[in-house]
Amino acid sequence: MKKMLTDDQRQSLIQTAILARQQAYAPYSRYPVGAALLTATGRIFSGANVENAAYPTGMCAERVAVFKAVSEGEREFIAIAVVTSNGGAPCGACRQALAEFGLDTLVLVADAQGRLVMEDSVAGLLPGAFGPKDLPPQA
Ligand code: THU
Repeated sequence: MKKMLTDDQRQSLIQTAILARQQAYAPYSRYPVGAALLTATGRIFSGANVENAAYPTGMCAERVAVFKAVSEGEREFIAIAVVTSNGGAPCGACRQALAEFGLDTLVLVADAQGRLVMEDSVAGLLPGAFGPKDLPPQA
């Protein structure tokens, strides 16, 4: 089902992501990222990227937000806002993590000034996604 957001919801998600970005731990890339995920129950989970001296151990802001939400019982998402300095797009791994919980989740990408630079669904950002439907029925 196509998901819709009001302008107020858009702005408050982006503002939450801007604040979350301040908590990023990104001493290696110096590319802090903030995310804010709105669930179907109306809760907002924030996330920031958390890097590590052992580089691959780090985690993106979007997946931090998704994992926080899922680990607190949420599995249905309306939208996620992602904020970077330059409005950079979510990485493939984060698109895949979002796809697990719905291809119609909206993804808003904004820059550090809160300007919306891109809005699309997960389906639009990950065409032909592999997902739960591709696996045999689980016992
Ligand atoms: N990063 C994110 O947090 N989300 C993305 O979708 C792209 C990249 C982080 C990972 C790393 O900490 C830094 O940005 C540079 O790649």
